[in-house]
Amino acid sequence: MSAKPLILLGIESSCDDTSAAIIKDTIILSNVVAGQDIHTKYGGVVPELASRAHQQNIIPVVQQAIAQAGIQKEEIAGVAFTRGPGLLGSLVVGTSFAKAFALAQDIPILDVNHMYGHVLAHFIGGEEKKKPDFPFICLTISGGHTQLVLVKDYLSMEVVGTTIDDAAGEAFDKTAKLLGFPYPGGPLIDKYAQEGDASKFVFAKPNMQNYDYSFSGLKTSILYFLQKQMKVNPAFVEQEMQHICASVQQSIIDILFVKLVKASNDFGINQIAIAGGVSANSGVRKRLQEEGLKHRWDVFIPEFQYCTDNAAMIAITGYYMYQKGLFADQSISATARLTFNR
Ligand code: KG4
Ligand code: ZN
Repeated sequence: MSAKPLILLGIESSCDDTSAAIIKDTIILSNVVAGQDIHTKYGGVVPELASRAHQQNIIPVVQQAIAQAGIQKEEIAGVAFTRGPGLLGSLVVGTSFAKAFALAQDIPILDVNHMYGHVLAHFIGGEEKKKPDFPFICLTISGGHTQLVLVKDYLSMEVVGTTIDDAAGEAFDKTAKLLGFPYPGGPLIDKYAQEGDASKFVFAKPNMQNYDYSFSGLKTSILYFLQKQMKVNPAFVEQEMQHICASVQQSIIDILFVKLVKASNDFGINQIAIAGGVSANSGVRKRLQEEGLKHRWDVFIPEFQYCTDNAAMIAITGYYMYQKGLFADQSISATARLTFNR
Protein backbone atom coordinates (compact mmCIF):
# COMPACT_ATOMS: atom_id res chain seq x y z
CA MET A 1 0.00 0.00 0.00
CA SER A 2 1.42 3.39 -0.97
CA ALA A 3 2.22 5.95 1.75
CA LYS A 4 -0.31 8.43 0.39
CA PRO A 5 -3.80 6.93 0.43
CA LEU A 6 -5.47 6.37 -2.92
CA ILE A 7 -8.93 7.91 -3.20
CA LEU A 8 -11.17 6.69 -6.01
CA LEU A 9 -14.75 7.33 -7.14
CA GLY A 10 -16.73 4.21 -8.08
CA ILE A 11 -19.79 4.30 -10.36
CA GLU A 12 -22.31 1.47 -10.88
CA SER A 13 -25.26 1.70 -13.28
CA SER A 14 -25.53 -1.72 -14.90
CA CYS A 15 -29.17 -2.46 -14.08
CA ASP A 16 -31.72 -0.60 -11.99
CA ASP A 17 -29.61 0.88 -9.18
CA THR A 18 -27.63 4.08 -9.60
CA SER A 19 -24.72 4.00 -7.19
CA ALA A 20 -21.60 6.01 -6.37
CA ALA A 21 -18.94 5.27 -3.76
CA ILE A 22 -15.75 6.82 -2.49
CA ILE A 23 -12.97 4.48 -1.46
CA LYS A 24 -9.74 5.34 0.38
CA ASP A 25 -7.37 2.44 -0.24
CA THR A 26 -9.62 -0.50 0.72
CA ILE A 27 -11.87 1.45 3.08
CA ILE A 28 -15.27 2.64 1.88
CA LEU A 29 -15.97 6.25 2.91
CA SER A 30 -19.40 6.38 1.29
CA ASN A 31 -21.65 4.11 -0.77
CA VAL A 32 -24.83 5.76 -2.02
CA VAL A 33 -27.43 3.66 -3.83
CA ALA A 34 -30.55 5.08 -5.49
CA GLY A 35 -33.04 2.34 -6.36
CA GLN A 36 -35.70 2.70 -9.05
CA ASP A 37 -39.24 1.99 -7.87
CA ILE A 38 -40.62 2.75 -11.33
CA HIS A 39 -40.12 -0.89 -12.44
CA THR A 40 -42.28 -2.42 -9.69
CA LYS A 41 -45.54 -1.87 -11.53
CA TYR A 42 -44.18 -3.51 -14.71
CA GLY A 43 -43.06 -6.68 -12.92
CA GLY A 44 -39.46 -6.35 -14.11
CA VAL A 45 -36.81 -3.86 -15.18
CA VAL A 46 -37.83 -1.77 -18.22
CA PRO A 47 -34.49 -0.86 -19.89
CA GLU A 48 -35.58 2.49 -21.33
CA LEU A 49 -37.03 3.64 -17.99
CA ALA A 50 -33.90 2.45 -16.16
CA SER A 51 -31.66 4.46 -18.46
CA ARG A 52 -33.75 7.59 -17.96
CA ALA A 53 -33.77 7.17 -14.18
CA HIS A 54 -29.97 6.76 -14.18
CA GLN A 55 -29.67 10.07 -16.03
CA GLN A 56 -31.75 11.77 -13.37
CA ASN A 57 -29.96 10.11 -10.46
CA ILE A 58 -26.30 10.07 -11.42
CA ILE A 59 -25.29 13.65 -10.55
CA PRO A 60 -27.10 13.88 -7.17
CA VAL A 61 -25.87 10.38 -6.22
CA VAL A 62 -22.23 11.28 -6.96
CA GLN A 63 -22.58 14.62 -5.15
CA GLN A 64 -24.00 12.82 -2.13
CA ALA A 65 -21.20 10.22 -2.17
CA ILE A 66 -18.53 12.94 -2.21
CA ALA A 67 -20.28 14.94 0.53
CA GLN A 68 -20.80 11.88 2.77
CA ALA A 69 -17.16 10.87 2.36
CA GLY A 70 -16.12 14.30 3.62
CA ILE A 71 -13.62 14.83 0.79
CA GLN A 72 -13.12 17.43 -1.94
CA LYS A 73 -13.55 16.21 -5.51
CA GLU A 74 -9.97 17.37 -6.22
CA GLU A 75 -8.72 14.56 -3.92
CA ILE A 76 -10.15 11.85 -6.23
CA ALA A 77 -7.29 10.17 -8.13
CA GLY A 78 -9.34 8.06 -10.55
CA VAL A 79 -12.84 6.93 -11.54
CA ALA A 80 -13.79 3.25 -11.62
CA PHE A 81 -17.00 2.50 -13.50
CA THR A 82 -18.98 -0.57 -14.57
CA ARG A 83 -18.31 -1.10 -18.27
CA GLY A 84 -20.48 -4.26 -18.44
CA PRO A 85 -22.16 -6.68 -18.43
CA GLY A 86 -25.64 -5.21 -18.04
CA LEU A 87 -28.25 -3.13 -19.82
CA LEU A 88 -26.54 -1.05 -22.47
CA GLY A 89 -28.67 2.07 -22.03
CA SER A 90 -27.94 1.99 -18.29
CA LEU A 91 -24.22 1.26 -18.63
CA VAL A 92 -23.84 4.15 -21.08
CA VAL A 93 -25.00 6.64 -18.42
CA GLY A 94 -22.38 5.58 -15.85
CA THR A 95 -19.65 5.20 -18.47
CA SER A 96 -20.29 8.64 -19.99
CA PHE A 97 -20.42 10.26 -16.58
CA ALA A 98 -17.16 8.59 -15.49
CA LYS A 99 -15.39 9.69 -18.66
CA ALA A 100 -16.63 13.28 -18.41
CA PHE A 101 -15.79 13.56 -14.71
CA ALA A 102 -12.29 12.16 -15.27
CA LEU A 103 -11.69 14.45 -18.23
CA ALA A 104 -12.72 17.49 -16.22
CA GLN A 105 -10.52 16.48 -13.27
CA ASP A 106 -7.68 15.21 -15.48
CA ILE A 107 -7.57 11.81 -13.78
CA PRO A 108 -7.57 8.24 -15.19
CA ILE A 109 -10.57 5.93 -15.65
CA LEU A 110 -10.75 2.23 -14.75
CA ASP A 111 -13.21 0.03 -16.64
CA VAL A 112 -14.57 -2.56 -14.24
CA ASN A 113 -16.28 -5.84 -15.07
CA HIS A 114 -19.41 -5.94 -12.86
CA MET A 115 -18.89 -9.64 -12.08
CA TYR A 116 -15.37 -9.01 -10.78
CA GLY A 117 -16.94 -6.35 -8.57
CA HIS A 118 -19.31 -8.82 -6.89
CA VAL A 119 -16.39 -11.15 -6.09
CA LEU A 120 -13.96 -8.44 -4.95
CA ALA A 121 -16.55 -6.97 -2.57
CA HIS A 122 -14.99 -9.48 -0.15
CA PHE A 123 -11.84 -7.32 -0.01
CA ILE A 124 -13.60 -4.19 1.19
CA GLY A 125 -12.37 -3.25 4.65
CA GLY A 126 -9.22 -2.71 6.66
CA GLU A 127 -6.57 -5.01 8.12
CA GLU A 128 -8.97 -6.22 10.80
CA LYS A 129 -11.36 -7.70 8.25
CA LYS A 130 -11.04 -11.42 7.50
CA LYS A 131 -10.58 -11.79 3.75
CA PRO A 132 -10.32 -14.91 1.58
CA ASP A 133 -6.91 -16.35 0.66
CA PHE A 134 -6.20 -17.21 -2.97
CA PRO A 135 -7.27 -19.44 -4.55
CA PHE A 136 -10.87 -19.43 -3.39
CA ILE A 137 -14.22 -20.36 -4.91
CA CYS A 138 -16.95 -17.74 -5.14
CA LEU A 139 -20.56 -18.58 -5.94
CA THR A 140 -21.88 -15.39 -7.53
CA ILE A 141 -25.66 -15.40 -7.56
CA SER A 142 -27.62 -12.41 -8.81
CA GLY A 143 -30.62 -11.42 -10.88
CA GLY A 144 -28.62 -11.79 -14.08
CA HIS A 145 -25.93 -14.34 -13.27
CA THR A 146 -25.15 -17.63 -11.58
CA GLN A 147 -21.43 -18.33 -11.67
CA LEU A 148 -19.06 -20.65 -9.89
CA VAL A 149 -15.84 -18.70 -10.02
CA LEU A 150 -12.34 -19.98 -9.33
CA VAL A 151 -10.59 -16.87 -8.01
CA LYS A 152 -6.82 -17.19 -8.43
CA ASP A 153 -5.91 -13.58 -7.73
CA TYR A 154 -7.63 -10.17 -7.52
CA LEU A 155 -7.79 -9.84 -11.28
CA SER A 156 -7.40 -13.45 -12.33
CA MET A 157 -10.64 -15.41 -12.23
CA GLU A 158 -12.14 -18.28 -14.17
CA VAL A 159 -15.80 -19.18 -14.45
CA VAL A 160 -15.95 -22.95 -14.01
CA GLY A 161 -19.74 -23.27 -13.96
CA THR A 162 -22.65 -21.14 -15.04
CA THR A 163 -26.38 -21.34 -15.73
CA ILE A 164 -27.61 -22.48 -19.11
CA ASP A 165 -30.94 -20.68 -18.68
CA ASP A 166 -32.30 -18.62 -15.77
CA ALA A 167 -30.11 -17.07 -13.09
CA ALA A 168 -30.71 -17.94 -9.41
CA GLY A 169 -32.23 -14.48 -8.81
CA GLU A 170 -34.56 -15.00 -11.78
CA ALA A 171 -35.70 -18.29 -10.26
CA PHE A 172 -36.65 -16.36 -7.11
CA ASP A 173 -38.21 -13.44 -9.01
CA LYS A 174 -40.19 -15.56 -11.48
CA THR A 175 -41.61 -17.71 -8.69
CA ALA A 176 -42.45 -14.55 -6.77
CA LYS A 177 -44.36 -13.30 -9.81
CA LEU A 178 -46.38 -16.54 -9.91
CA LEU A 179 -47.22 -15.95 -6.25
CA GLY A 180 -48.35 -12.41 -7.00
CA PHE A 181 -45.44 -10.53 -5.37
CA PRO A 182 -44.14 -7.25 -6.83
CA TYR A 183 -40.71 -7.14 -8.55
CA PRO A 184 -38.10 -8.02 -7.35
CA GLY A 185 -39.77 -10.74 -5.30
CA GLY A 186 -36.66 -12.56 -4.04
CA PRO A 187 -36.55 -10.74 -0.68
CA LEU A 188 -40.28 -11.46 -0.12
CA ILE A 189 -39.82 -15.19 -0.70
CA ASP A 190 -36.99 -15.00 1.84
CA LYS A 191 -39.30 -13.27 4.35
CA TYR A 192 -42.20 -15.75 4.04
CA ALA A 193 -39.83 -18.74 3.88
CA GLN A 194 -38.63 -18.00 7.39
CA GLU A 195 -42.01 -19.09 8.78
CA GLY A 196 -42.56 -22.07 6.49
CA ASP A 197 -41.80 -25.78 6.39
CA ALA A 198 -39.23 -26.30 3.63
CA SER A 199 -39.93 -30.03 3.36
CA LYS A 200 -43.66 -29.63 2.72
CA PHE A 201 -43.50 -29.47 -1.09
CA VAL A 202 -40.97 -31.07 -3.42
CA PHE A 203 -40.05 -29.69 -6.85
CA ALA A 204 -38.04 -31.04 -9.79
CA LYS A 205 -34.26 -30.77 -9.58
CA PRO A 206 -32.00 -30.57 -12.64
CA ASN A 207 -29.36 -33.13 -13.46
CA MET A 208 -26.64 -30.99 -15.00
CA GLN A 209 -23.16 -32.00 -16.04
CA ASN A 210 -20.00 -30.54 -14.52
CA TYR A 211 -20.58 -27.36 -12.52
CA ASP A 212 -23.35 -25.91 -14.65
CA TYR A 213 -26.77 -24.86 -13.46
CA SER A 214 -30.31 -24.86 -14.81
CA PHE A 215 -33.36 -23.33 -13.17
CA SER A 216 -35.98 -23.47 -15.93
CA GLY A 217 -37.14 -26.99 -15.01
CA LEU A 218 -37.74 -25.90 -11.43
CA LYS A 219 -39.74 -22.90 -12.63
CA THR A 220 -41.97 -25.12 -14.81
CA SER A 221 -42.38 -27.62 -11.99
CA ILE A 222 -43.54 -24.84 -9.64
CA LEU A 223 -45.92 -23.44 -12.26
CA TYR A 224 -47.62 -26.81 -12.92
CA PHE A 225 -47.76 -27.56 -9.20
CA LEU A 226 -49.50 -24.25 -8.44
CA GLN A 227 -51.94 -24.62 -11.36
CA LYS A 228 -52.89 -28.12 -10.20
CA GLN A 229 -53.37 -27.11 -6.57
CA MET A 230 -55.34 -23.95 -7.44
CA LYS A 231 -57.82 -26.04 -9.47
CA VAL A 232 -58.63 -28.02 -6.34
CA ASN A 233 -58.41 -25.11 -3.91
CA PRO A 234 -58.41 -21.53 -5.30
CA ALA A 235 -57.13 -20.24 -1.93
CA PHE A 236 -54.13 -22.61 -1.98
CA VAL A 237 -51.42 -19.98 -2.51
CA GLU A 238 -52.84 -17.71 0.16
CA GLN A 239 -53.17 -20.55 2.71
CA GLU A 240 -49.83 -22.18 2.03
CA MET A 241 -47.72 -19.10 1.20
CA GLN A 242 -45.06 -19.66 3.88
CA HIS A 243 -44.64 -23.34 3.04
CA ILE A 244 -44.51 -22.72 -0.72
CA CYS A 245 -41.84 -20.02 -0.25
CA ALA A 246 -39.79 -22.17 2.13
CA SER A 247 -39.95 -25.18 -0.21
CA VAL A 248 -39.05 -23.16 -3.32
CA GLN A 249 -36.17 -21.45 -1.52
CA GLN A 250 -34.92 -24.81 -0.27
CA SER A 251 -34.97 -26.23 -3.82
CA ILE A 252 -32.97 -23.29 -5.21
CA ILE A 253 -30.45 -23.56 -2.36
CA ASP A 254 -30.07 -27.33 -2.83
CA ILE A 255 -29.38 -26.82 -6.55
CA LEU A 256 -26.79 -24.13 -5.78
CA PHE A 257 -24.95 -26.05 -3.08
CA VAL A 258 -24.65 -29.45 -4.79
CA LYS A 259 -22.33 -27.85 -7.35
CA LEU A 260 -20.51 -25.71 -4.82
CA VAL A 261 -19.65 -28.78 -2.72
CA LYS A 262 -18.59 -30.67 -5.85
CA ALA A 263 -16.32 -27.82 -6.98
CA SER A 264 -14.77 -27.52 -3.52
CA ASN A 265 -14.02 -31.27 -3.45
CA ASP A 266 -12.76 -31.47 -7.03
CA PHE A 267 -10.50 -28.41 -6.77
CA GLY A 268 -9.42 -29.18 -3.21
CA ILE A 269 -10.28 -25.63 -2.12
CA ASN A 270 -11.85 -24.89 1.25
CA GLN A 271 -11.98 -21.08 1.02
CA ILE A 272 -15.58 -20.54 -0.05
CA ALA A 273 -17.37 -17.24 -0.68
CA ILE A 274 -20.80 -16.18 -1.91
CA ALA A 275 -21.62 -12.91 -3.66
CA GLY A 276 -24.37 -11.09 -5.56
CA GLY A 277 -27.94 -10.11 -4.70
CA VAL A 278 -29.10 -13.64 -3.83
CA SER A 279 -26.27 -13.96 -1.27
CA ALA A 280 -28.44 -11.62 0.84
CA ASN A 281 -30.90 -14.50 1.20
CA SER A 282 -31.05 -15.69 4.81
CA GLY A 283 -31.42 -19.35 3.80
CA VAL A 284 -28.38 -19.17 1.51
CA ARG A 285 -26.30 -17.54 4.26
CA LYS A 286 -27.37 -20.13 6.83
CA ARG A 287 -26.69 -23.01 4.46
CA LEU A 288 -23.18 -21.73 3.72
CA GLN A 289 -22.46 -21.68 7.46
CA GLU A 290 -23.80 -25.24 7.84
CA GLU A 291 -21.89 -26.62 4.86
CA GLY A 292 -18.82 -24.76 6.12
CA LEU A 293 -18.96 -26.59 9.45
CA LYS A 294 -19.59 -29.91 7.74
CA HIS A 295 -16.78 -29.64 5.20
CA ARG A 296 -14.36 -27.54 7.31
CA TRP A 297 -14.59 -24.60 4.95
CA ASP A 298 -13.51 -21.07 5.68
CA VAL A 299 -16.64 -19.21 4.62
CA PHE A 300 -17.02 -15.61 3.47
CA ILE A 301 -20.39 -13.89 3.45
CA PRO A 302 -20.64 -10.29 2.23
CA GLU A 303 -22.25 -7.54 4.30
CA PHE A 304 -25.82 -6.93 3.12
CA GLN A 305 -25.01 -3.57 1.54
CA TYR A 306 -22.36 -5.21 -0.65
CA CYS A 307 -24.55 -8.13 -1.84
CA THR A 308 -26.92 -6.32 -4.18
CA ASP A 309 -25.54 -3.95 -6.82
CA ASN A 310 -23.43 -1.16 -5.35
CA ALA A 311 -20.58 1.12 -6.37
CA ALA A 312 -18.36 0.14 -3.42
CA MET A 313 -17.59 -3.18 -5.14
CA ILE A 314 -16.72 -1.30 -8.34
CA ALA A 315 -14.44 1.05 -6.38
CA ILE A 316 -12.54 -1.82 -4.69
CA THR A 317 -12.03 -3.49 -8.09
CA GLY A 318 -10.78 -0.15 -9.40
CA TYR A 319 -8.36 0.00 -6.47
CA TYR A 320 -6.69 -3.29 -7.52
CA MET A 321 -6.68 -2.26 -11.20
CA TYR A 322 -5.06 1.06 -10.29
CA GLN A 323 -2.24 -0.79 -8.49
CA LYS A 324 -1.51 -2.59 -11.76
CA GLY A 325 -1.86 0.53 -13.92
CA LEU A 326 -4.85 -0.98 -15.77
CA PHE A 327 -6.31 2.32 -16.96
CA ALA A 328 -8.75 2.67 -19.83
CA ASP A 329 -8.61 5.06 -22.73
CA GLN A 330 -11.22 7.82 -23.12
CA SER A 331 -12.35 6.08 -26.33
CA ILE A 332 -13.73 3.12 -24.33
CA SER A 333 -17.45 2.35 -24.56
CA ALA A 334 -19.93 0.40 -22.44
CA THR A 335 -20.51 -3.24 -23.41
CA ALA A 336 -23.71 -5.13 -22.56
CA ARG A 337 -22.14 -8.55 -23.07
CA LEU A 338 -18.73 -8.16 -21.51
CA THR A 339 -17.06 -11.55 -21.28
CA PHE A 340 -15.67 -12.57 -17.95
CA ASN A 341 -12.01 -12.69 -18.79
CA ARG A 342 -11.04 -9.20 -19.75
O1 KG4 B 1 -26.76 -8.46 -7.66
P1 KG4 B 1 -28.11 -7.86 -7.86
O2 KG4 B 1 -28.48 -6.65 -7.05
O3 KG4 B 1 -28.33 -7.43 -9.35
C1 KG4 B 1 -27.84 -8.13 -10.45
O4 KG4 B 1 -26.65 -7.94 -10.80
O5 KG4 B 1 -28.67 -8.90 -11.00
O6 KG4 B 1 -29.17 -9.04 -7.63
C2 KG4 B 1 -30.55 -8.81 -7.68
C3 KG4 B 1 -31.27 -10.13 -7.42
C4 KG4 B 1 -32.77 -10.10 -7.64
O7 KG4 B 1 -33.13 -11.24 -8.41
C5 KG4 B 1 -33.36 -10.18 -6.23
O8 KG4 B 1 -34.62 -10.79 -6.17
C6 KG4 B 1 -32.30 -11.03 -5.55
O9 KG4 B 1 -31.07 -10.54 -6.05
N1 KG4 B 1 -32.35 -10.91 -4.09
C7 KG4 B 1 -32.77 -11.91 -3.27
C8 KG4 B 1 -32.69 -11.40 -1.95
N2 KG4 B 1 -32.23 -10.10 -2.01
C9 KG4 B 1 -32.02 -9.83 -3.33
N3 KG4 B 1 -33.18 -13.15 -3.55
C10 KG4 B 1 -33.53 -13.94 -2.51
N4 KG4 B 1 -33.50 -13.52 -1.22
C11 KG4 B 1 -33.09 -12.27 -0.89
N5 KG4 B 1 -33.06 -11.88 0.38
ZN1 ZN C 1 -24.94 -7.48 -9.89
